[in-house]
Amino acid sequence: MSTFSPAVRRQLLQGARLAARQGPYRCFSSSVRHAEQPATKAPQPEDNPPRTTHFGFETVSESLKESRVGAVFSSVASSYDTMNDLMSLGIHRLWKDHFVRSLNPGTNPLTSSTSAPAQGWNILDIAGGTGDIAFRMLDHASNIHNDYMTRVTVADINSDMLAEGRKRSLGTSYAKGDRLKFVEANAEKLDMIPSNSVDLYTVAFGIRNFTNKDTALREAFRVLKPGGVFACLEFSKVNNGLFNEVYKRWSFGAIPLIGQLVAGDRASYQYLVESIEKFPSQEEFRDMIKDAGFVVPGKGWEDLTGGIAAIHKGVKPVERA
Ligand SMILES: C[S@@+](CC[C@H](N)C(=O)[O-])C[C@H]1O[C@@H](n2cnc3c(N)ncnc32)[C@H](O)[C@@H]1O
Repeated sequence: MSTFSPAVRRQLLQGARLAARQGPYRCFSSSVRHAEQPATKAPQPEDNPPRTTHFGFETVSESLKESRVGAVFSSVASSYDTMNDLMSLGIHRLWKDHFVRSLNPGTNPLTSSTSAPAQGWNILDIAGGTGDIAFRMLDHASNIHNDYMTRVTVADINSDMLAEGRKRSLGTSYAKGDRLKFVEANAEKLDMIPSNSVDLYTVAFGIRNFTNKDTALREAFRVLKPGGVFACLEFSKVNNGLFNEVYKRWSFGAIPLIGQLVAGDRASYQYLVESIEKFPSQEEFRDMIKDAGFVVPGKGWEDLTGGIAAIHKGVKPVERA
């Protein structure tokens, strides 16, 4: 009997159909993958070879990556929060708290220097998943600034992650009002978001899963107002050799095993650690943000816990007349 939910089966089926068109399907897990490598194959002349990208340590066609990532997050959605706590020993909560505090979302209507009626901030939380960042933003605006106008749109490509987020929002005061919205959307194509309309764009632990990060950065630039801020919290590169050794042992040794024991899904967690490894360094990612048109303050990032994670920020320049 299959242990997958209908949504996961749908995603997997979609992936398998694509794979059938593009070549032999291979399991996510690198151990199985290596055993299944085909023997040498004569080179085939191809007029239009498909564009490829990384799926963890695998190279896959761009069109296949999206469905494979979809299958991973559909599979982990229901255990996502527990697994985050176990894998990071709860530290992801501190990183998220710090991320939101550093952005200081909201404006106090009583002390605001503008004469215009307070509108609050329009925040777009991309790859917002289960709503962790969105709830913190709204709490911060309300509790620190007495700002009850600031609103957050949580956008995510995966309906299962969004469903978990909606479920969690029922336990907050935001479920009934209009300050919190969930939208199914691909970060690389945000057609439903008008240009120059967003004050703050956040993406936490999402961008390393995108097929085309440069396209997503350009979309972030498009939707932000001049002066608006792009902010990314993502796993990064540890900057101490010894600490890096310990961290690598933990992530490659323990995380897939915890995934297997707690969520019954080793392969998805193997992908998650491989995707962290493949993500660009702090400097490389800073340069990608600059290439998308953003102005980067200071050196461009802040390391968290020795570089296990990092916060990158960019500002969309205000054009001068
Ligand atoms: C590791 S979760 C992060 C969720 C949440 N931001 C957090 O910090 O807990 C990554 C999320 O990225 C989403 N995602 C992956 N590719 C995406 C894309 N192209 N566009 C929008 N969301 C995407 C996944 O569906 C998943 O919900």
